[in-house]
This record gives sequence, C-alpha cells and structure tokens, in this order.
Amino acid sequence: MASEHVALKARKVAFDWQETPLHWVPGDPFTTHTINVLHLLLPAGERWFVHVYQQALPYITDDRLREDVIGFIGQEAVHSQAHDDVLPHLRRQGLDPTPYTAQVDWFFEKLLGDRTLPPGRARRWWLMERVALIAAIEHYTAFLGDWILNAEELDRRGADPMMLDLLRWHGAEEVEHRSVAFELFMHLDGGYRRRARTWALAFGTLVFLWQRGTRFFMENDPGLLDPKASWADFYRRGRAGVLPSTPAVLRSVPRYLSRSYHPSQEGDTAQAVAYLAASPGANGGR
Ligand SMILES: [Fe+2]
Ligand SMILES: [Fe+2]
Repeated sequence: MASEHVALKARKVAFDWQETPLHWVPGDPFTTHTINVLHLLLPAGERWFVHVYQQALPYITDDRLREDVIGFIGQEAVHSQAHDDVLPHLRRQGLDPTPYTAQVDWFFEKLLGDRTLPPGRARRWWLMERVALIAAIEHYTAFLGDWILNAEELDRRGADPMMLDLLRWHGAEEVEHRSVAFELFMHLDGGYRRRARTWALAFGTLVFLWQRGTRFFMENDPGLLDPKASWADFYRRGRAGVLPSTPAVLRSVPRYLSRSYHPSQEGDTAQAVAYLAASPGANGGR
C-alpha cells in the first residue's frame, strides 16, 4: 500500500459547456439524466465534506493522514465547483434544477449541518457520525469513479467528450483519494457498529435522492413527451454498460461491510493517475 501512496493535489480544471447538447448521451435521456443527478448532489454534498473535515482536522494525530485530508479537502472543493458550473448550462437549455438543489442544500446544510450542541461528547459524537457517513459515501464515489473510467460503451455511443472528461477527471481523483475518508474514520473512531449504521443511512439516502433526481430531470426536460423513469430502465442500462450494473452495485455492499475492507482493494490507482495526466480538462482545458 505504501508504494501506492500519491500526494493529493487539487488540479486547476477548465471545462467549456457551449457545445454540450441537452441529451449528451445521444438518444438516451434516461442515461443522461441519471448521470446528471451528480450535478445536483455533488455541489452541496462535497461542500459539506469540506465543512466537516475542517472540523475533524484538529483531532488528527498522524502527519501523513493530515496531509492526505488537506489534499482531499482541496480536491473536493474543486469537484463541488466544477459540477456547480454545469447548472447554468442546464438552465440555458430549459432545465432549471433550482427546485431540486434547494432540497439538497437543505439536506446537507440543515439536516446534516452543525447542530447547536455543547462542546464535549455530544459534539464529538455528531462529528464522528458525519466522518463515518463520508467514509461510506466515498466507498460509492470510488465505485462510480472506477466505473466511469472503464465505461467504454459511453464512448461507443458518442457521449459528449467534454462531459465524459469532467466525469472521468472527477472519477479518477475519487479513485486516487479513495482511502482517505476510510482511513480518517478508522483513525478517529473505527467502530464497526457505527460503520454499518452509517453505511445503511448513506446507501438508503443515495438511492432515494438519486431516483428522485432522475425523475425530476425527466419530468422537467422540455424535450421529452414521455418522461417515465423506472428501475427496469436502470437495470437495462446497466446491462448495456452505459450505467453501473445492478449486480455490481449490490456486490459492493458486502465489500464495505466486510471487517477486512480497505478501499485500496477497489479501483486502480495507476489507471486513475494515467487518466489525470492525459485529461484535457484536468490540465486546464488544453
Ligand atoms: Fe469528489
Ligand atoms: Fe471524494
């Protein structure tokens, strides 16, 4: 594992959305909008990661882990902004995400935000719950990152190269920093019951928010006469390779809950680093 360690740094990214069509997976609004949900969840979600980790920093007693967490914070701040920058483009195309993002903002800022707790045990408990939640969510960001780096079917179907580059740059950084959140959780707490409980909350919430987000986009898409979205659509796209497959999603569950889990067992750092070296967007849009 030590040989795999990469110093984490935020990259200056540049993406230009002018040429990206509304249905950037050609002829497949369901796949387009299922992936578009990332632009709804990540700006608020990753801002929340940063906010929580800034509170966790003083408790870290390991210098290398502290460096990793600082690098992680830098990367997540850029991710959040890069996905936020897609929203005006969606608005220009007649798809206003504000009603949905307002709910997501409330969720992260109010429900999962700082509570007025006295300093001491209660405050520490709430911080540890959130650190554990982030570790569980990062299991899925790494899963999705690894998936998008290998989703060649999207290229074959002519998906927009700019959007694919945004997703793969982000996915590659998720693979690159995939161990940080789990190691921070293990360093500060590591309790198995907390890991299992927060996994259930993270997984259930992600599934709930994701299917609502897909429906929201489908129903508000000005170009769709038949805005239906179902689990069968998701399952079929997974089989076709344009979305993660349902069996792969289900198989990822016992891996996170295994007592011998470590994120380094997932994904491929060399592949991520190679993508980041070649990505136009991650190198300033060259
Ligand atoms: Fe991220
Ligand atoms: Fe991440």
